[in-house]
Amino acid sequence: MEIRNVSLKNYSSLRVGGNGDMVIVTTAIELVEAVMYAKAHSKRIHILGEGTNTFFGSDLVDVLVVKLYLKGVSFEDKDEYCYITASSGESWDDIVLFACDKKLWGIENLSAIPGTVGAAPVQNIGAYGVELKDVLVSLSALDRDTLNVVEIDASACNFGYRNSLFKLEYGKYIIISVTLKLFHLPAPVLTYKPLDTLVGKGDITPHDVRSLVVATRKAKLPDYREYPNAGSFFKNPVVTKAQGEALRCIYPELPLIEVSEGYKIPAAWFIEHVAHMKGVRTGNIGTWPNQPLVIVNYGEADASEVIIFSQKIITSVKDTTGIVLEQEVKCVP
Ligand code: EPU
Repeated sequence: MEIRNVSLKNYSSLRVGGNGDMVIVTTAIELVEAVMYAKAHSKRIHILGEGTNTFFGSDLVDVLVVKLYLKGVSFEDKDEYCYITASSGESWDDIVLFACDKKLWGIENLSAIPGTVGAAPVQNIGAYGVELKDVLVSLSALDRDTLNVVEIDASACNFGYRNSLFKLEYGKYIIISVTLKLFHLPAPVLTYKPLDTLVGKGDITPHDVRSLVVATRKAKLPDYREYPNAGSFFKNPVVTKAQGEALRCIYPELPLIEVSEGYKIPAAWFIEHVAHMKGVRTGNIGTWPNQPLVIVNYGEADASEVIIFSQKIITSVKDTTGIVLEQEVKCVP
């Protein structure tokens, strides 16, 4: 196990962060060693995948960043299903591609989401009407308190919108692998625009859906390799029915998406129409002109610049509507 002091901005797709200690682990045994080292040196652990939902501050002396590089994929066909087990360090989109190539249904709507397999359950990744929770069967994880590897069923993961047990009990479990249940028979989810254009098109394949998702994301979202960003910076707020209807009286154009708790409202709408910060740039930081929910680092921003900019959006939306936008991207520490 080799601990190196590195520039952590190189491990954040937003390219924000100071120097800190990092260890790359390639086996479960190395992972246990890293956890024991952190305990012995009173360091907080931050588990890192591809860093596409994370940025780092500048004071990181108490932190050990553990970059998970656990690899491996296996699958098992059983009746009409295929169970895919993937290690947490695999790239999520490689698994989606693998499934589409095998003509398996279930995760094609989650195409082109940056990040690793291990990060997917943490925020219950979701897009175009599908969430990870819809296909996850179980996962194995290292329990940091006992240092045992445990199997956790999907029902015990407390999945919610961009939420899970792994956020609620942050740091307790380190995900090692996940098992997904995919369908051999066609099971497309085409409710979300623009996938509805495929309805009635006859024999579509998972790759047809994937291609449309990839093209849509490409048109709306910046590529972090060109414009450093960490995807949606805020969650879409969920409000009660009464709150949603009251807001509609003030903003007749406000989109309200029905969910079990009430309504989900696109944070992008608030940023564009309430905060008036779509495509707005201050110094190194700005919102993306095609999707203001994404914050872009146009230069050499540090964490405080990102936080000040995002706070400006939060304050503006809160002062005008009473809605408090919740940050989705993780700032370490
Ligand atoms: N909107 C605006 N102005 C804009 C863009 C969007 O007002 O410039 C409003 C429109 O009303 C639009 C609505 O926002 O109809 C929804 O926009 P979009 O379909 O782009 O989706 P989103 O709710 O903003 C969520 C996810 C994305 C995911 C898309 C597609 C969250 C926080 N974000 O965005 O996930 O790709 O749906 O399903 O839930 C990510 O998590 O990093 C991410 C990109």
